[in-house]
Amino acid sequence: MSLAMEYDHWKSVVRGLSKPKVPIEPYVPVDRRSPSRHLPVPSAWEGIPSILADIFQRFRLKTRLCLEFGVEYGYSTVALSSFFDHVIGVDTFEGDKHTVNKSNIFELTQERLSVYPNISLVRSDYRDYIRNEVRNFDLIHVDIVHTFADTYACGLWSAQHSHCTLFHDTQSFPQVKQAVREIARATGKRFYNYQESHGLGVLL
Ligand SMILES: C[S@@+](CC[C@H](N)C(=O)[O-])C[C@H]1O[C@@H](n2cnc3c(N)ncnc32)[C@H](O)[C@@H]1O
Repeated sequence: MSLAMEYDHWKSVVRGLSKPKVPIEPYVPVDRRSPSRHLPVPSAWEGIPSILADIFQRFRLKTRLCLEFGVEYGYSTVALSSFFDHVIGVDTFEGDKHTVNKSNIFELTQERLSVYPNISLVRSDYRDYIRNEVRNFDLIHVDIVHTFADTYACGLWSAQHSHCTLFHDTQSFPQVKQAVREIARATGKRFYNYQESHGLGVLL
C-alpha cells in the first residue's frame, strides 16, 4: 500500500517535469493573533491558529461554513470554530499510519468538543462523506493521512467545493506539497505556502 502511494507521488513528480511550473507564493503573515478558543491537546497544528485571522482578512473570506477533514483530538477544529458560524469535522477517529494514535477516539473527542455548539463531528472516511455532500464551504481544511493519493483525492474535491482550501504538513510531507501543486494545476487556483508549523498550503 505505502509503496503504491510512493509510486503515485513520484509518478506525479516525473510527469510534472514536462509541464509548466506551478508557482508557489510564500505566505508571510503581517499580523499574529491568538483566536478566542484554544484546546490544550497535542497537535502538530500548534502555531497555525495565530495566523488564521490574517488569512481570513487578507483573502476577505466569509466565515459562515467550514469543513475539516482530519480532526483527531480537535485542536484545529476548535481553533477554526473561533471564527465560523458552523464547523463540520470529519474523521474516522481511528488514526492512520502517520499518527501516534491508532485507537478509536470518537466518543472521547465528541465529549471534549460538546461544549462548542457550533462544531458537529461526523465519524466517516472522507471517501464516504464526499459521496453525499453537495454544499459549498467558505473554507475546507485537509489534514488526513499524508499520502499523495489521499491528499490529492480529498483535496481536489475540497478545492472544487470551497472558496479557500487549507492543507497542513506541506513542509514535513513532500507528497502533500506535490498533491497541492497538482490540485493548483488542475483547478487554476493560486498556491500560497506558509513554512512554519510543518507547513500550511493555502489554495484559492
Ligand atoms: C494529523 S491528524 C489530524 C490533526 C488535527 N487536524 C489537528 O491539527 O489537531 C489526521 C487525522 O486524519 C484521520 N484520517 C486519516 N485518514 C482518513 C480518512 N481516509 N478519512 C477520514 N479521516 C482520516 C485520522 O484518523 C487522524 O485523526
